[in-house]
Parts: sequence; structure tokens; C-alpha cells
Amino acid sequence: MTLGSPRVHFRRIGSTNTRARQLVIAGAPDGALVTANEQSAGRGRQGRSWSAPAGSALLCSVVVRSPPALLSLRAGVAVAETVDQAIGSGSGDQAIGTGPALIKWPNDVLLGGRKVAGVLVEGRVSEDWAVVGVGINVAVSIDDLPPPLRDSAGTLGLDRTAIEPVLAGWLCSLERWREPPDEHVLAALRARDALRGREIAWDAGSGVAAGIDGEGRLLVDTGSGRVALDAGEVHLRRHLSA
Ligand code: BTN
Repeated sequence: MTLGSPRVHFRRIGSTNTRARQLVIAGAPDGALVTANEQSAGRGRQGRSWSAPAGSALLCSVVVRSPPALLSLRAGVAVAETVDQAIGSGSGDQAIGTGPALIKWPNDVLLGGRKVAGVLVEGRVSEDWAVVGVGINVAVSIDDLPPPLRDSAGTLGLDRTAIEPVLAGWLCSLERWREPPDEHVLAALRARDALRGREIAWDAGSGVAAGIDGEGRLLVDTGSGRVALDAGEVHLRRHLSA
């Protein structure tokens, strides 16, 4: 089924993901979409918040019933593809960096080393649904972001009128990336891997990123051997992250 219908749009809402979760529990079909101009309680992965100035970012959450394996990786690849299309077709003169967009495992989308988009997938395996929430800084001015984000956040540097076309592109791209076998998804992810060969750290260790394995885990070479991370957050070691 085509993603994006039915759609409900809010001028301002707490979180589109929270709303989409309520809707799917109430019976919303596959493809149902929640969008907003502004979120007062936008949520990110690992319990973080997600912040975007009103009217300048794509903020949306789509219901996926019978979600495929590796959905959060599929979504990241689809967002990266959408970003490439958007900066290729728009003026994008204000974008910080050029494509191709890279992916910082598992699904942060980077342009010029800055995060331009984030993905939050939430679901209930027992009920066979997921909600894919995406924030893309389509027309964000970095100066309008909270100070702690100004060094790390990026923007596509497009006009606000590009938000709807970027949404349409994202829905098409996610639709395409629902189907392929896991190996195709992993190949696309590896081709955009922002971490490979870089020194990284996470809450339990550090090492050099060594690619993505066949289950979508991040491989890291540490002083005591190779480990595979299947969840959590990794950070580029600052002295090497320029
Ligand atoms: C992350 O990088 O930590 C994920 C960020 C996801 C943000 C989007 S914005 C639309 C949707 N609603 C939310 O509350 N979060 C996601």
C-alpha cells in the first residue's frame, strides 16, 4: 500500500511519533501519516529530545504494519537517498556540505559531517506494527537551533516550500526500501557508512569502526578483538571527527 494516507497535519503537536503510536493502537492503517510544523516535545533515540524551529523542518511519522527486518536501517537509507535527491534538485546553496549523504550507524544522516536528519523507529513486535519518525532539517537556519546543537547539526539549506516535496520524496523512498532483501539494504548502508575506519567510542568501550555485518550490527575493532554492536549510540572521537 502507498505510504502517506490517511494523513493528519498539526500546526503544533507534542510529538508526531507519540500521536502516530496512539493512532496505530486505535487501528490506523499501514501508511497512515502524521506531520507537524512544530513539535513541543519532539523525541529522539536513546531518550533524547529533538528540536527544530517552527516551520523549517520536515517532522513526520508514518505507520508501518508488518514491518520488515532492519526497518530502522531501511529508513536511514531511504532518508539519505531523499537528502541526495533534495540537494540535487533544489537550490540548496545554503546546505553545509554536499552529497552523497552519509549514515552514522544506525541511521543518523550526515551532510558535510553534520547531522541533517534523524530517524526514530518505535513499535510493538507482538502487535506487528512500527512507527517510523523522521526529522529532516530542510530549511533550518543553524543559528535558530539551541546553542548545543549548532556545532553538530546541518541543514539542506532549502526554502520552506521544499518541505512538502521532500516529504513526498521520503515516502516514495521508504516505500521502495521496504521490499528489497536485507543484503541490498546492508550494501546501500555500507556504501554510505560514515564511521568505517574512524575512531569511535560508546558507553562501554572504544575502537575503530570496521563496517556493518550481515545482521546490520556495527563492527568495531578494539584492543581486545572485534565486537559487534547491535544497539545504542556511538560517538566519533572528537579529535578525529573534523
Ligand atoms: C534521533 O536522531 O535521535 C531521532 C530523531 C527523530 C526525530 C523525529 S521528528 C518527527 C518524529 N517525532 C518525534 O518526536 N521524533 C521523530
